[in-house]
Amino acid sequence: MSPPLSSIAVAAPAPAEALLDEARALKDAPVEVLLAWVERRFGARAALASSFGVEDMVLIDLARRHAPSLRIFTLDTGRLPPETYELIEVVRNRYGATVETFFPERAHVEALESTQGYFSFRRSLEARRECCAIRKVEPLRRALAGSEAWVTGLRREQSDNRAAIEVAELDTEHGGLLKLNPLAAWTRKDVWAYIQANAVPYNSLHDRGYPSIGCAPCTRAVKPYEDARAGRWWWESREHSECGLHPVR
Ligand code: ADX
Ligand code: SF4
Repeated sequence: MSPPLSSIAVAAPAPAEALLDEARALKDAPVEVLLAWVERRFGARAALASSFGVEDMVLIDLARRHAPSLRIFTLDTGRLPPETYELIEVVRNRYGATVETFFPERAHVEALESTQGYFSFRRSLEARRECCAIRKVEPLRRALAGSEAWVTGLRREQSDNRAAIEVAELDTEHGGLLKLNPLAAWTRKDVWAYIQANAVPYNSLHDRGYPSIGCAPCTRAVKPYEDARAGRWWWESREHSECGLHPVR
């Protein structure tokens, strides 16, 4: 028996591998082209994860023009520096963008702070990972639910952990959705050249020695000779410097 007409008219979602192949074919294309493909392929079923660091500001600026349906979300851990909240307001006003905010589960934060205090993450790697799991990793799962692709500002140059990231990957940790890292090959210089050429707003902490910005109590300025992520969880050894949002390779 032939299928009903309605089932022919509605295109089935492409299998993840097929999407990955399509995206990989664009890995050397200008970021604008990749974003335009995201717009065509996913519309609002794709989301940009933004910490409002300088890479994410490049992506927001490009996305407003080339992927206007791309959702923008942030994980508000409750411990972000005031400068980040100020910048989010600038983005909302300048771009007219909705910034979807995902906050950690209240009960989990209450239990964490009641039993372990406000700086538990300084005590051990396990305690730090527990805080990141509550404040970042769990909200990320909610933020990605229902999406078919997400976009990040990860760059290979940022750390050894990130040296092998690809422009397009399958994110098996989140159910096999497509993860796009359009700036994977960009250098720090490329990022800042874009920001300056396009007068893109950025976090004022970058001008005070913070190349990478996360939660206030876990981020500090770096010395000129230190690597970009040296100010993140600076009391831990470098191989641990991921919070669980992105896999350690
Ligand atoms: S992190 O995982 O250690 O925080 P980093 O600050 O370098 O990494 O950010 C890398 C990318 O992860 C960002 O470009 C962004 O896509 C995503 N990301 C990091 N923190 C957040 C956040 N608080 N909210 C949304 N996305 C984030
Ligand atoms: Fe907690 Fe620090 Fe991780 Fe933020 S970066 S979630 S404060 S441990």
